[in-house]
Amino acid sequence: MKIENYVRDIQGFPKEGILFKDITPLLNNPEARKKCLSILVKSLNGQKIDKVVGAESRGFFFGMLLAQELNAGFVPVRKPKKLPHETISASYELEYGTDTLEMHKDAIQKGNRVLIHDDVLATGGTAKAVCDLVTELGGEIVQCNFLMELSFLNGREKIKDNPIFVAITY
Ligand code: PRP
Ligand code: MG
Repeated sequence: MKIENYVRDIQGFPKEGILFKDITPLLNNPEARKKCLSILVKSLNGQKIDKVVGAESRGFFFGMLLAQELNAGFVPVRKPKKLPHETISASYELEYGTDTLEMHKDAIQKGNRVLIHDDVLATGGTAKAVCDLVTELGGEIVQCNFLMELSFLNGREKIKDNPIFVAITY
């Protein structure tokens, strides 16, 4: 079974000229999901993880599966004004303007061993903001992992101080 076969190309979504990588077939197939999860877990080589941090919204799917498999806490990083308790925030640049992500202040304790997960590493803006949030709370980033990397966008450059694992590279 090749997990690549469960990622579907959608030409022209969400805008003309963009080739969208759709992971819904992967989510919809339990065998493909298990294979993908096991690839991500194996990449950790048994390193202990206290918290898995997943980025809204597509980072929640496998982020939660990873947390369950690793017997770790799950921490959602969310778009602004979604989290009810005290938050910290980090901003990142978009093509036009900036965007912000938030995390609960009490979600990570100093010295926690953290796995950061998202579905795609594209420009790296999202991943860098998540890394900044974890670091601000004193978390130790064990790995940033992604289902896919759009390598031509060079996003890994922005998070190069951390170990990175990617299941599928385009
Ligand atoms: C997409 C994707 C990653 C991010 C990658 O999320 O799920 O989180 O973009 O792009 P970057 O490396 O250039 O930051 P999006 O913001 O579209 O939101 P979603 O996950 O809620 O669909
Ligand atoms: Mg996302």
